[in-house]
This record gives sequence, C-alpha cells and structure tokens, in this order.
Amino acid sequence: MADTLQTPLNLFDYERMAAARLDPMVYGYYVGGANDEITLRENRESFNRISLRPRMMVDVGERDLSTVILGQRYATPIITAPMAFIALAHPDGERGVARAAGSLGIPMTLSTMATTSIEDVAAERAGPLWFQLYVYKDRGITRWLVERAETAGYEALVVTVDSPLLGKRERDVRNQFHLPEGYTAANLNDPSYRRVSAVDQGSGLASYIASLYDPALTWKDLEWFASITKMPIWVKGILRGDDAQRAVDHGASGIVVSNHGGRQLDTAIAGITALPEVIAAVNGRVDVLLDGGIRRGTDILKALAFGACGVMIGRPILWGLAVNGEQGVRDILTILRAELELAMALCGAPTVNEITPDLIV
Ligand SMILES: Cc1cc2nc3c(=O)[nH]c(=O)nc-3n(C[C@H](O)[C@H](O)[C@H](O)COP(=O)(O)O)c2cc1C
Repeated sequence: MADTLQTPLNLFDYERMAAARLDPMVYGYYVGGANDEITLRENRESFNRISLRPRMMVDVGERDLSTVILGQRYATPIITAPMAFIALAHPDGERGVARAAGSLGIPMTLSTMATTSIEDVAAERAGPLWFQLYVYKDRGITRWLVERAETAGYEALVVTVDSPLLGKRERDVRNQFHLPEGYTAANLNDPSYRRVSAVDQGSGLASYIASLYDPALTWKDLEWFASITKMPIWVKGILRGDDAQRAVDHGASGIVVSNHGGRQLDTAIAGITALPEVIAAVNGRVDVLLDGGIRRGTDILKALAFGACGVMIGRPILWGLAVNGEQGVRDILTILRAELELAMALCGAPTVNEITPDLIV
C-alpha cells in the first residue's frame, strides 16, 4: 500500500512521520506537556475558536511578508523558538536549524540547554541568531553564558522566566528522561552541568533544573541582565498584562507571550488568549511575540491581528529535523511561510501592516 505520508503537505504530516522515527523517550520529551496536557491541547484549540473576517476586492497581486521586529526588518514574522537537546532529533542538530532558518532570513533562538555550543552554532550562522538564557544559581556561569553569546554575535537575549522549576511532564517521569551517552548540554563546562543523567525515579531533567537553576529569580534580576549586556532582552513566558508592564519597567525590550508549549503549568491560559491583555498593557512601548501551538499560516495571521509583531515556532522544527534534517526544517518553515502568504492574500491583507484586529472575531 502506498505511504500516503510520503509527501508531507503540512506540519501535522511531519509530526506523524517524526513520531514513527524517533526513539520513544525522545519523542515523549519533545511532544509532551505538563500533567494532563490540558494547556498543550488548549494551545491548538484556542486558535481554532478564532474566526477570520476576510476583506474582499483588495489588490493582493503583490504580497510582502516582511516586518519590523525591535527596529530591524526581517523577511517574515517567524522565529524559531529555543528548544533544548535538538540533536536528539537528527545529527544535523542545532547547526542544521541555524542553517535552515538563516537561509530564509529567520532568526534562530539557541537554548541554554543546546546540544551544540554557542560558538559552534555561530560558526554555521546563515542569518540572525538569538540566545535563550536559563538562569543558574551560579551567577558567574550565567554571566559567562551571556557574555559568550554577545561575543559570538548573537543579536538578542531571550530570558525565560516561567521555569523556576520544571513542570511535571509525566511522559518524562515514566521514561526516566535523560541525555543519552554521547550528548551533553554543550554550553556548560563542568561535568555536573553538562550531563543530564538518569535518576532513580522521575525525570533527569527535572532533577538537573531543581539543583542548578535559580528558583528565586525576581524582577530585580532583570535589571542585572540589562546591565551586563548590550543585547536587547526579550522576557519569555509572560501570560499577564501586569507582568508585561513589570518586565518593561525593569528593562525588557520585548515580551514573549508563552506558556512554554504547555510544558510548565498545566491549565495555564493559552498564549493567544492572553495576548490581547498583554498588548493592551504594554501599549506599544515594546514589541510582543507569541508562541504555543502555531501550526498553520492562519495561526500566525491571528497572532499578528491581535498585535504581536511575530511568532516563535517550537515543536514543528523538531519534526522537520527528525524527518529530513536541515532540509526538513527548511521545508517546515517554507510551508508556514507559504500558508501565511496565502492567508494574507485571502484576507485582503497584502502586507503585514494590513493584518489588523478587525480581521478576527
Ligand atoms: C522539546 C522542547 C524543548 C524546549 N526547550 C526550551 C528551552 O530550552 N528554553 C525555553 O525557553 N523554552 C523551551 N521550550 C519551549 C519553546 O521555546 C516554546 O515556548 C514552545 O515549544 C512553543 O510551543 P510549540 O512547541 O507548540 O510551538 C521547549 C519546547 C520543547 C517542545
């Protein structure tokens, strides 16, 4: 019987193909969310509940997807989200993502917990790179990570604030998730920081984070980050307007509205549902990005219509990589870009500026 999935048409096709290829422990880590995965599902369902109100008889003969983010023009409003342990999907790993995203002018955000180092990814740069920071109790290590990213030419710092502890990801608990032999958290030096080992019970990653990350982070610390780097700072993991305001007051250049792909606090609000409150609270003072559950061009259009300047894409990058390495990531991003362009044309919004709130209900 012919494999009807041989030519994947959309991101869901890639997900199914990746599921069949990946080791179950790795797949569980990638696909899973916290507890009952209610937020994970809500991230998708909330997009589906929003309807579009397309405008007709607009000249959409020429379409322009470019947009301005933090004062810089980018080819599309798409950015790859920071994700740990990307090399578990495919040997191309973070280098492959950097090359694929860069070739399309899409910024790649490298995770603190990458399986390839800041410098090795920078050596493959084909486009803009951003660095995502998890804050270690050891501020010397934290500072060293930030300084290395800046020296290597990363253009923005994404400080993740929703993970003082790791969410209870039961798939990882059951699979006793850990980094297999041959893989490390490559940005760290000390073996106790580089390894994410199996523990007797539960997730090795949850133990790692409980022992090394700083759960006492407060808004004051944001000022410290701003004082040690010239990179603009995105605060990632905001779901409330008042928190967004605090982030701006303490030196953030931008906000990433995110529930961490449903992986932290289960039953937390979906990003797209929280977005209008955040947009209203920051009132144009800073740029706002959204992530979580974006799988279609129409999802991106909805986020922009609410006022986001762009979106971050998480898991689909891993599915593309698992299916076909660097080229798979390029395919995923190209599909999303084409779907966004078509959605813009059919909505009568030939430029990103014309994606306005009246398009959604
Ligand atoms: C496997 C995996 C690893 C992740 N690792 C990180 C990380 O290291 N740092 C971080 O800020 N967010 C991390 N995230 C969250 C993503 O940056 C992003 O918020 C989320 O995946 C977006 O949702 P989506 O996967 O539905 O697109 C991770 C997500 C996944 C799926």
